[in-house]
Amino acid sequence: MSELLYAGKAKEMWSTDDPEVLRVVYLDQATAFNGKEKEHFAGKGHAAHAISNLVFHYLKDHGITTHLLETISPTEDLVKKCEMVPLEFVTRNVVAGHFASRYGLDEGADLKPAVEETFYKSDPLDDPFINASSANALGIATFAEQEQMWAMCREINELLKALFEKAGMKLVDFKLEFGKLPDGTIILADEFSPDNCRLWDLKTNAHMDKDVFRRQLADLTETYDRVLARIQTALEEK
Ligand code: C5P
Repeated sequence: MSELLYAGKAKEMWSTDDPEVLRVVYLDQATAFNGKEKEHFAGKGHAAHAISNLVFHYLKDHGITTHLLETISPTEDLVKKCEMVPLEFVTRNVVAGHFASRYGLDEGADLKPAVEETFYKSDPLDDPFINASSANALGIATFAEQEQMWAMCREINELLKALFEKAGMKLVDFKLEFGKLPDGTIILADEFSPDNCRLWDLKTNAHMDKDVFRRQLADLTETYDRVLARIQTALEEK
């Protein structure tokens, strides 16, 4: 018996016969403005899934523990069931998006060291900004757990900046989510695709991520397919 546990903006989570394993399905849809705009894009689920899989395998090969167990179809994975930490960890290497609009800046300047922002995952509250002491006070994650997740984000940032540079793209910013196993181990969960990061072409600064949909710049699936092909080539080169 498989039961739909959660229908997200671009993915669904289903139960499996194994209580410790979930099935994730990547959908052919994208939302912008926190779900306020939703559209269907044929082939997008396949491309986002393939990119996320390559990135998660690359991270695993470099010592990052993730929820990914097995890929069972071009749009589906089996993942370890974990208790999701309701926080979004956003790392920014370059001024863009809400960092630019919030502080009245043009996009494009490097941020060194990278800016780290945490948001509380809550649709009714529109994912508000949260700091470490608030997240601790609300019982969402202890200071030590938050520090551990940020340490993983920093390691992942270094690994992915190198991977995307090799693939001819600048990793502008990205969002990560983590889960906790019953023994308290923190693992990387959710996904890594151009739905939750910004990638700019190294030479032209062209957008190669969900901003092409948010800003109506180019075809979403075609853009994701190009990102996928570039990552595949970069990984083959070694
Ligand atoms: O919109 P903003 O500039 O804050 O987004 C920063 C990064 O985090 C972007 O790569 C965006 O795609 C990602 N993000 C996300 N999910 C959210 C908010 C931001 O994946 N709910």
